[in-house]
Amino acid sequence: MTNRPAQFVLKVNGATHVVSASVRTPLLYLLRNDLALNGPKFGCGLGECGACTVLLDGVPTRACVTTAEVALGREITTLEGLGTRTALHPVQQAFIEEQAAQCGYCLNGMIMTAKALLDRDPHPDVATIQHELSRNLCRCGTHVEIVRAVQRAAQLLAERADAHDGAHV
Ligand code: FES
Ligand code: FES
Repeated sequence: MTNRPAQFVLKVNGATHVVSASVRTPLLYLLRNDLALNGPKFGCGLGECGACTVLLDGVPTRACVTTAEVALGREITTLEGLGTRTALHPVQQAFIEEQAAQCGYCLNGMIMTAKALLDRDPHPDVATIQHELSRNLCRCGTHVEIVRAVQRAAQLLAERADAHDGAHV
């Protein structure tokens, strides 16, 4: 390992990016400062709050305490990789429908963590959702709305899957 700048490739949201930096640079800095992907937020910088969460090969990962080296060769997904303003991902749509934000600073981490949960378990019960999100901090106290949003997202994903199946009958 070295602190010297090097050129390496990061795979982010289905695209490859050449980055010049030390491989020990926190992934969050490269995403925000070099690639202008500002979905992941800088909260504590200590791996404690979850605001910076991205998916590494589908697994929620705290980008503030993950070096670029750990992400090499892996698929990085940020909030920007889920949906767009005109084609929201069902998890994003559900958070809007349930008005699950006050300041919104925690939502990146909540949404990315919920997305990974629903990929793994499409019908989680409330206890499972609460447990999964328990390490994501929300200083505004919107946990009730956030849990409701994840339940709504599960419903939207199921409806989408049914519509997809129906189209192929
Ligand atoms: S900013 Fe990464 S966990 Fe808080
Ligand atoms: S909505 Fe403000 S930190 Fe969660």
